[in-house]
Amino acid sequence: MLSRMCRRNSTKIPRFLACTAALALLPLRGAIAAPPLQDALSARIPALFRFAGAQLTRAAQTLRPTQYPITTDSSGKWKTMNASGWTSGFFPGSLWLLYEQSKNPVWKARAQTWQRHLEREKTSRGTHDLGFMLFTSFGNGHRLTGDDRYRRVLLTAAGSLATRYNPVVGAIKSWESKPAEFPVIIDSLMNLELLFWASTHGGQSAWRDLAIQHARRVRRDHVRPDGSTYHVVTYHPATGAVIKKSTAQGKSDESTWSRGQAWGLYGFTVVYRETGDRSFLQTARKLADYFLANLPSDAVPSWDFRATSAREPKDSSAAAIAASGLLELARLELDASRRTRYFSAAERILSLLSSPAYLAKGTPSRALLLHGTYNKNAGDFDTGTIWGDYYFLEALLRYQKYAPVLGQRRSE
Ligand code: GLY
Repeated sequence: MLSRMCRRNSTKIPRFLACTAALALLPLRGAIAAPPLQDALSARIPALFRFAGAQLTRAAQTLRPTQYPITTDSSGKWKTMNASGWTSGFFPGSLWLLYEQSKNPVWKARAQTWQRHLEREKTSRGTHDLGFMLFTSFGNGHRLTGDDRYRRVLLTAAGSLATRYNPVVGAIKSWESKPAEFPVIIDSLMNLELLFWASTHGGQSAWRDLAIQHARRVRRDHVRPDGSTYHVVTYHPATGAVIKKSTAQGKSDESTWSRGQAWGLYGFTVVYRETGDRSFLQTARKLADYFLANLPSDAVPSWDFRATSAREPKDSSAAAIAASGLLELARLELDASRRTRYFSAAERILSLLSSPAYLAKGTPSRALLLHGTYNKNAGDFDTGTIWGDYYFLEALLRYQKYAPVLGQRRSE
């Protein structure tokens, strides 16, 4: 199982790691009983995927192939946007993850149906979200089928994303803005995986270089000394000078938007995986440590780490993204006690998200998870979110793959 896991991920792991850490754990397999939380969560995963299958089937039967879910409305139905919205990859991406888990061709056919109308976005130069949109859809599709047409879509998308790079700033522009402003958001780290991947699948090596430079800029300017993060840093496009540090979706400029922190911990983990540069491992650790140190007792954060009252809306999507990122960080981690801490934290978060407090089972919601926050400042909270569902499924798949090794290692 482990050697299969290593092969499957071999293009995503720095060569120097090449699964050696994981392989070193092999002798422990079968030697030590798994702790009760691991047994309980592992036992629940098949039922969680059955529930996901039922929810996604219902969505596929009610949505048109040009409609892409974003959040649920007050009756629990999906609100949708067209292919150009930043969330458009998550529905086909979730369908691909169901295909990965079940190998049932029905899911592959549905994923292809919803990603077909996304393809034209590959030439869009007006958004930085091409990684969110196309790597979750075509990226998973290529990983699971090897279809070369999907690779070519991804190369075009990477080229489009690269046009948004400004060498003076040393970053990719996140949002369209006034001519004298160049905003970069912490979420942008999630679009770098597309550039890393494309640079080793027939694309330009320069794409990797600019992804690394972008990650360095975000580390310098968005990450505070305590490991918390700013949401938005605005630069002057002609000089690269920082004009301001602020928030759009957080509580205040100096607070920490919990989903931004989750994007950051996941994103720096990917940058470490792709580069093998340990300074990015340090950054991923810092962000993970801040996230975990500031979680409330139920392991799901509110929408902002400074919104601490029990009445504040939760963001289950931040928890799902963090759980998936923490599992990857645990897999790559070189330090045994940190590996255990990150794995156990992800397990605790997934256990909570799978409980009746957060799972939409038995409710009118068409989503998998309840209690997500898209934008509290805009009054958009306590809903299902398609990206929260996607990262929840990704995290469950990672847990299924990694727990037999990482879970037993922690019992040492
Ligand atoms: N920009 C993606 C988000 O709202 O998290």
